[in-house]
Amino acid sequence: MAKNSTFVCASCGASFSKWSGRCEACGEWNSIHEEAPLSPTPTGLGAAKGRRLALTTLDRQEAPPPRNSSGIAEFDRVLGGGLVEASAILVGGDPGIGKSTLLLQAAASFARSGLKTYYISGEEAAAQIRMRATRLGLQDSAVQLASETSLRDILTTLDADRPDLVIIDSIQTMWSDRVDSAPGSVSQVRAAAHELTAFAKRSGCAVILVGHVTKEGQIAGPRVVEHMVDTVLYFEGERGHQFRILRAVKNRFGPADEIGVFEMTGAGLSEVGNPSALFLGERGKPSPGSVVFAGIEGTRPVLVEVQALVSPTPHSQARRSVVGWDGGRLAMILAVLESRCGIPFAGLDVYLNVAGGMKISEPAADLAVAAALLSAREDAALPPETVVFGEISLSGALRPVSQTENRLKEARKLGFSCAIAPEGGKPGRVADLKLTQMGDLTGFVGETFGAG
Ligand code: TYD
Ligand code: MG
Repeated sequence: MAKNSTFVCASCGASFSKWSGRCEACGEWNSIHEEAPLSPTPTGLGAAKGRRLALTTLDRQEAPPPRNSSGIAEFDRVLGGGLVEASAILVGGDPGIGKSTLLLQAAASFARSGLKTYYISGEEAAAQIRMRATRLGLQDSAVQLASETSLRDILTTLDADRPDLVIIDSIQTMWSDRVDSAPGSVSQVRAAAHELTAFAKRSGCAVILVGHVTKEGQIAGPRVVEHMVDTVLYFEGERGHQFRILRAVKNRFGPADEIGVFEMTGAGLSEVGNPSALFLGERGKPSPGSVVFAGIEGTRPVLVEVQALVSPTPHSQARRSVVGWDGGRLAMILAVLESRCGIPFAGLDVYLNVAGGMKISEPAADLAVAAALLSAREDAALPPETVVFGEISLSGALRPVSQTENRLKEARKLGFSCAIAPEGGKPGRVADLKLTQMGDLTGFVGETFGAG
């Protein structure tokens, strides 16, 4: 073992001089790996002495970065309006969620718009990729394929050919001979990501890295890659559902939190231009426990159905089960309902589900969740054609949320005629929509369910 090797936590990146089973910095178990030191002669330029920086001021007018549209509107939207030259993008997601499918389709689309596009896979043989391309109807695309894991060979090729876009599927399979550890290890992933982003910056080529996510929801060898790239996108969805959501969690060239919605079909991913219609399309007649939430994802309003089921528990400890929302937040809403409105949920199993495999993180969903829980508990459906949104504070007060008017307009567009929202929040004027505004949860419970 080299004298100066260090030990690095894969979860938080803290480094130590010796190995231990648990990271002292973040408390994660079994996350510490040995890092071999970098070889003393880096590839490429071997200049020992640095050069003086050319400093500049802040007041220079910069043109917006040139962007290339993929022709896939949902993909462009998540990128903030198209692919920026020389940018490095990480696309993370669970294995099997459809990353390779999405990126092969995107690659073909970029190639069609005239970009010189390379797709390099370390996971599949070229024949396999060709089979997928045939399934997707892309066999005639001008995308250049290679099946390779050696970073040195890849960079040599890229430096010689100077493509406009290169897709690396996946970063975990890449292997740099500068680092003396196994492919997939933190130091390999870091070195590969570093060399590829450096290539993007010096050549002007956009680089898209695919990264697999571990069970804990992080990209293996993880944060190290997230902070190196310009844009981090997550491709998410439930395996059993056909909906897939591409979400920007970091974007140096556009808004974060923007989403693109896709549907996985037998012939690849197809765009969903109006996600609300799709998420609500599954909804049948109004039924107890089902409430439509008017949410905002990025810059776009999206209506989704929140479903709750409440039933007496056969166990000594009641179950609390959540899909698509935060479990801690559910506990909070239950506690507020119990202590502020006097509606107990003890002895009742509570199941909460966001329909369509959608994940909601907005606090604005609080009121919709409370409404779904009450509706399920009282076995009383909310009036049909009603949307609900609003944040609930621990005191039981309802707080206004952002973009109230946009939420209401989307609801109206999709044929809803009533909305329940907190007081305040600039609702504007939306024709043919009856808006009921309330100040606290007790008032909402009394008015909507006649209980308290
Ligand atoms: P894939 O893109 O290989 O996932 P990842 O790269 O994220 O691991 O997608 C795999 C799944 O997608 C696989 O279970 C089959 C399904 N699929 C379709 O349903 N339709 C298609 O046209 C394609 C290509 C894949
Ligand atoms: Mg794949």
